[in-house]
Formats: sequence, structure tokens, C-alpha cells
Amino acid sequence: MIITVDGPAGAGKSTIAKKLAQKLGFLYVDTGAMYRAFTLKALNDKVNFADIDRLVFLARETNIQLKQMENNEIKVLLDGEDVSGLIRTPELTNAVFKVAQIPQIREVMVQWQRSYGESNNIVMEGRDIGTVVFPQADEKFYLDADINIRAERRYNELKEKGIDVDMHDLLEQMKARDYKDKNRSSGPLKKADDAILIDSTGLSIEEVVDTISSYINDEKRK
Ligand code: C5P
Repeated sequence: MIITVDGPAGAGKSTIAKKLAQKLGFLYVDTGAMYRAFTLKALNDKVNFADIDRLVFLARETNIQLKQMENNEIKVLLDGEDVSGLIRTPELTNAVFKVAQIPQIREVMVQWQRSYGESNNIVMEGRDIGTVVFPQADEKFYLDADINIRAERRYNELKEKGIDVDMHDLLEQMKARDYKDKNRSSGPLKKADDAILIDSTGLSIEEVVDTISSYINDEKRK
């Protein structure tokens, strides 16, 4: 069974998709972490982002693993090295779109992402999962929330990790990221026509997980 969760930054996708996967006993796949890890590699290797052939070559020889730990945390391994902390910095976050907008790189990512669905029940979150990666998914959700709430959640997340950011800058960066994610030509952030829209603005994490679970149970009963 394949469940997709798409939506903009800060809508609560990661927390909710992770909890949902845990509840269902499915594998949780964070595709943003894949784009982030590959961007880190390209930056470390000082590849010019305009050199698409070089980037694609690099992507094909890159190994990214999402390892589920016993405490349910996910470790992101880039060529075997744990980069979980390094891929969440504001600098890296602001660089990802340069890589994520390149159609040839998205093709490589989509292949990786589809391979997870071949032999696993999965909850996969991202931007184009219900539209491009798994258009035939069993259940699709599109999670959204008011931009101010999303920025506040992201601010608190970063603060918890000891990363200090200015709230106003964060809000502007999020707006810019949403715009870029929605307006790129390849794999833009978009609600699939058959996805269920959930606005998490006034809802707790548990309420969103329960809402999604009830849709899945209804579907199973059919
Ligand atoms: O989900 P997260 O915020 O970690 O994603 C980081 C960036 O990776 C997004 O802003 C987007 O540009 C890119 N991304 C994407 N397609 C996905 C997942 C993430 O383009 N399926």
C-alpha cells in the first residue's frame, strides 16, 4: 500500500507522515531529506549547479539511505556518513531549490523513490509524490496550513535544534521557497486532483493523524 503526503514547508508533513507510518507499521520515506542530502554532496564536491551533466553523474554515483532507528528517529546516510544534522541548516535549506528544479536530477530522485514502493508498504512525503512519483497511490493527502503558523512551527523546530533564526527572515524565506516549489516546471508542488486536502492550521498533530487514519480505514473497509 502506498500513501502519499505532499504539501508546503512547515505544514507538518514530516511529523505526521512519521507518526502515521508508525501507527500503520509502514516504512516512512522523507523525500525532502534525499534532495537535501544530494545538495550537500554537490556543495561539498563544489559542483557548479549549472553543470547538469556533472550533477547527474554525481547523483548516479551517490548512495542515500534513510535508516529507521529503534527510537523511531530517521538517520540520513550520505554514502554511509550520517548527515542528519548537516542537511537541516538554513544555508542548506536555501540551496536545495537549485538542485530540485533540475528535471534530470528529479528523474534520478523519482527512480530512487519509486524503488521504495516496490517491496514495501510506505508513507512517502514530499512535494510531487501524489502527482509524479506515485500517481496511482492508494491514498493521497495534501497537507497545508496558514503561512504564519508554518513559519512559527519551523522557528520552534530550529530553536529546539539550537539553530537561531530571525522570525521575519524565516517567514520571507518560506514564502520564497513555496513560490519556487510551486512554480518550477518539473515536479512542482501541487495538490493531486484526487488528494484529500487537510488544513492543519487549528489542529494538533494527533488530530491530523486521526483524520488521515480515518480516511485510510474507510478506504480499507470498501
Ligand atoms: O521537505 P523539505 O522541506 O525537507 O524539502 C526540502 C526541499 O526539497 C523543498 O523545498 C523542495 O525544494 C525539495 N523537494 C522537492 N521534491 C520533493 C521533496 C523535496 O523538490 N519531493
